[in-house]
Amino acid sequence: QGLRVYDPAFQNTAVAKSKITYIDGDNGILRYRGYPIEELAEKSNFLEVSYLLIYGELPSKEQFTHFAHEVMHHTFLHVKVTELMSSFNYDAHPMGMFISGLAAMSTFHPEANPALNSSDMYVRDERIRNKQILRLLGKVPTLAAVAYRHRIGRAFNTPQKGLSYTENFLYMMDHLSEANYRPNPKLAHALDVLFILHADHELNCSTAAMRHIGSSRVDPYSAIAGASSALYGPLHGGANEAVLRMLEEIKTADAVPGFLEQVKQRKKKLMGFGHRVYKNYDPRAKIIRQIAYEVFEICGNEPLIEVAIELERAALADEYFVKRRLYPNVDFYSGLIYKAMGFPTDFFPVLFAIPRVAGWLAHWVEACKDPDTKIWRPRQVYEGEGKRGYVPIEHRN
Ligand code: CMC
Repeated sequence: QGLRVYDPAFQNTAVAKSKITYIDGDNGILRYRGYPIEELAEKSNFLEVSYLLIYGELPSKEQFTHFAHEVMHHTFLHVKVTELMSSFNYDAHPMGMFISGLAAMSTFHPEANPALNSSDMYVRDERIRNKQILRLLGKVPTLAAVAYRHRIGRAFNTPQKGLSYTENFLYMMDHLSEANYRPNPKLAHALDVLFILHADHELNCSTAAMRHIGSSRVDPYSAIAGASSALYGPLHGGANEAVLRMLEEIKTADAVPGFLEQVKQRKKKLMGFGHRVYKNYDPRAKIIRQIAYEVFEICGNEPLIEVAIELERAALADEYFVKRRLYPNVDFYSGLIYKAMGFPTDFFPVLFAIPRVAGWLAHWVEACKDPDTKIWRPRQVYEGEGKRGYVPIEHRN
């Protein structure tokens, strides 16, 4: 064990070389494939960003048209997957349904399953890989919408041609059965920007899980089901849901000082604050704060924004949070936008998972192509008993 380095929670261990996402946590910088997140949020769209993350370059016009067509072509779910989704309790958490649906999808695409093929074929055959990428990007919004529709007891909506990725998603969530119904384009755009901001964030907990599980060469549906489970937790993608529940608990801006006091006494955690890498304002939170007001203009003001703004102001002026370099992260304002748009609180982690699929796939592809990729198998520092003799149960104290 002598040469082994004990590094709990991988705080100082680099486990992969990557060309996908650059983060400078001290200066609040985030870039996908070299492009600043601010520029992509302003000028690009989610599908183009997905292409950029996965294939490394911005697509030409022809490449983009082809890619978008293929992704949208793969938005339909097998009827058996929808039947599976219908079998959940009416109050099942949508994230649990989403994760189960992803795992179920692995059973429909045997060519992606290395257990049924040569494991090398799956890793090396770009054509097979691409097929799964298109399917996964296409199907996850439909899976999410089906989970939502099941929860509210409504029939599932089939994907619609001629709509953008986020328009189609909003359509499937809540179309009003009116002829020529189209979701509000400004809301579809706001959601598209949120999707861009959530698409990747280098080796966060769920992406590390994706690489870890993928290193066993399991199919990408199973690996993404595992990555989604990691995302579900309240310290990661579940934080947007937890922020909203926290703001609802605080209720009014004048209750903020009392709540911060409880945080300082370690009775509560300030959800949506702090980050393992950012020790400065999360650049995504800045953009999201702006979008919040654009969405409120359409959907009406969300009163909890006053509580959020006061909480941010008070925390950033407080020695306790300043000393620990705790700033709002991506989840602090996103929940308020989702709430204003009418999404139920427990659906927020699903809204994080849909775009993160692009990032997980980008890392999966990078790992598949990397000749250094081996099965991930960390070591431990054993602290248990030395060798002992077995004592029969009748002789134990
Ligand atoms: N509220 C109160 N104190 C905090 C918080 C917080 N949100 N985050 C960190 N601290 C304190 C922590 O108690 C510790 O103080 P001390 O040194 O006195 O013991 C210090 O700050 C360092 O924190 P840490 O726990 O060592 O930090 P970490 O890198 O292990 O954890 C984190 C990072 C994101 C899990 C944590 O900040 C957290 O739990 N935040 C709230 C949950 C959240 O918003 N998660 C979303 C993260 S961003 C999107 C994503 O990746 O999903």
